[in-house]
Amino acid sequence: MYIPIILGTARQGRESEKVARFMLNEVKSAGIATNLLDVRDFRLPATDNSKTSPQAKKLAAAITKADAIIIVSPEYNHGYPGELKMMLDLLYEEYAGKPLGIVGVSIGPFGGARMVEQLRLVAIELQMIPIREALHFPNIQDCFDGKGMVKDEEYKKRVKKFLDKLAGYAKK
Ligand SMILES: Cc1cc2nc3c(=O)[nH]c(=O)nc-3n(C[C@H](O)[C@H](O)[C@H](O)COP(=O)(O)O)c2cc1C
Repeated sequence: MYIPIILGTARQGRESEKVARFMLNEVKSAGIATNLLDVRDFRLPATDNSKTSPQAKKLAAAITKADAIIIVSPEYNHGYPGELKMMLDLLYEEYAGKPLGIVGVSIGPFGGARMVEQLRLVAIELQMIPIREALHFPNIQDCFDGKGMVKDEEYKKRVKKFLDKLAGYAKK
């Protein structure tokens, strides 16, 4: 099974990268092939006939191969980052039928909950299957130690449940 992880913000100093790297380790530990698709490498407007760009081709190859997709994203003004939408808009039919698990990140107490809801609507239009289970990382500034290790081990249990569900949909 192959489940790539999209990191949805290019912001300098992004906290979400810690979550994406944590997810990467957990997915690998579950015996699932994965890699990071960083929005920093896919920043071009879909309106520029960019479907033939090297970036779109790289993304298409990963998404076509994927059994499911994980998006790790912060919440910006109660939505998803614009650059994540630009990246997703590079493709269309490649997403069809792929289960999607969303991981929300925020500095506040809601763990990106509003972003998760909005992103699900976009995912449906892209013919993905956004799953009910989501992961939330609120108060992100307190979640990881200096070495990037998660402080609260409960997160590992939540990730396991989330991956079990996502992989279950992928198998179906
Ligand atoms: C443009 C912008 C808008 C933001 N809007 C929200 C928001 O609506 N809700 C929220 O909880 N945090 C918001 N934040 C703060 C993020 O939660 C915070 O930056 C956190 O560290 C996760 O984002 P990061 O990966 O960019 O660090 C916003 C941050 C930026 C840069």
